[in-house]
Amino acid sequence: MKHTKIIDLLGGKGLLHEVKAKGWVKTFRNSQFIALNDGSTINNIQCVVDLDKFPAEQLKRIHTGAAISVRGTLVESRGAGQNVEIQVEKLKIYGEANPEEYPIQPKKHSLEFLRENAHLRIRTNMFGAIMRVRSTIAYAVHKYFQENGFFYFNAPIITGSDAEGAGEMFRVTSLDLNNLPRTEQGEIDYKEDFFGKTTNLTVSGQLEAETYAMALGSVYTFGPTFRAENSNTSRHLAEFWMIEPEVAFNTLDDNMDLAEDFIKNVIKYTLEKCEDDLKFLEKRLLEEEKSKPQAERSEMSLIEKLRFVVENNFKRVSYTEAIDILRNCKPNKNKKFNYIINEWGADLQSEHERYLVEKHFKCPVILFDYPADIKAFYMRMNEDGKTVRAMDILFPGIGEIVGGSEREERYDVLMDKIAKMGIDAKELWWYLDTRKFGTAPHSGFGLGFERLVLFMTGMTNIRDVIPFPRTPQNAEF
Ligand code: 4AD
Ligand code: MG
Repeated sequence: MKHTKIIDLLGGKGLLHEVKAKGWVKTFRNSQFIALNDGSTINNIQCVVDLDKFPAEQLKRIHTGAAISVRGTLVESRGAGQNVEIQVEKLKIYGEANPEEYPIQPKKHSLEFLRENAHLRIRTNMFGAIMRVRSTIAYAVHKYFQENGFFYFNAPIITGSDAEGAGEMFRVTSLDLNNLPRTEQGEIDYKEDFFGKTTNLTVSGQLEAETYAMALGSVYTFGPTFRAENSNTSRHLAEFWMIEPEVAFNTLDDNMDLAEDFIKNVIKYTLEKCEDDLKFLEKRLLEEEKSKPQAERSEMSLIEKLRFVVENNFKRVSYTEAIDILRNCKPNKNKKFNYIINEWGADLQSEHERYLVEKHFKCPVILFDYPADIKAFYMRMNEDGKTVRAMDILFPGIGEIVGGSEREERYDVLMDKIAKMGIDAKELWWYLDTRKFGTAPHSGFGLGFERLVLFMTGMTNIRDVIPFPRTPQNAEF
């Protein structure tokens, strides 16, 4: 007999019939009630065991974490807390979980402890909810683009170009580090390396995506990216997933429209599909916030916050306007910021971004037209000769969630910029070809997937929304 997923049993599939369920024991109460979970939903199914029908020896082996299979009749439940339950007739234990040794017990564990047990933390309700939501968001990302005429494009993970300048890179090599080949000048001879040159893990698929947008029109990447920045914060990972749409003929305004519509649709879909998990995470957040002073608690619950983003326009503000607001705001004047904003041209730190979003506008903000000097070489120069057509989207509690721009499509202007920034144009020959042959206006952006998952789950540390986080000094598992 085939087993049925618990989510379907709870929905009434097989009611009054014989059913089979398989999963892991959450709790075993009074040697009679097993709360069983198989990961298909946050909700457990109650399995009622008649003490007389089973040898005490067998029941003694059932503890939190054990994998079992039960067979019995699915009936309406008389107890509170569930609609249906299984009256168990047959019981099989696949694997025990010794309570003296198994770390995940039905009690409160710290997030730090769970990170150290990242291979088992997925068995908690919290991580089950987070990772189901993560999976749904990923699906919603593909769904949105696929239904809007975009083609999924896979950028290379190992790259020979390091000109994006988005961050420090991880070197990829097959050279023997204890016996490096040397040139006559005594330098490491990368011609001897696997690819005959230096290679790195990609920091972004954008440059390659641009080449595809120049033929397929609308493309998007969704893949892992790597940054060797030594930033040990709750918002940074060394390995994270990025979504990068790139669209031919889109202006910066189109780009902002796309980003806003995309984010709203993804959140809306996930709200519909993950109701139970989000409700659970909402309660978790509420509990967590109880330990904070009133002033630091959020005004909205998790689901209210998500609905707010879906239902309200993002505020669009130029960098220049934002600098005026920041220069004159209280924390700047009272020197409460770590970095005081004095003049136009300053790079915004996350404290400034969060002030704008959380204190000033109280909604998601799109900042645009940044100073050319603090942005990447490929962004389109404005008429003023000072600012570029860049945009960042800032989210409450997160800060920057999206970075994007209209691209500089004019060959000469781009070449000038590359020279000024001291970038090796030879390395970028293939990228420059897009400007030589059939160049056209185009725009795109990158959304940090984990930052969106962080926002949607109400978690506070990015290490808790990716299965096995990679951060400085940590690559366990
Ligand atoms: O702003 P970034 O560096 O932009 C780019 O890489 C462009 N090439 C994107 C494009 O236009 N196609 O990164 C984009 C987003 C950020 O807004 C942030 O959400 C996320 O990627 N991000 C990180 N997420 C987690 N850990 C890190 N270390 C991140 N660095 C960036
Ligand atoms: Mg950025």
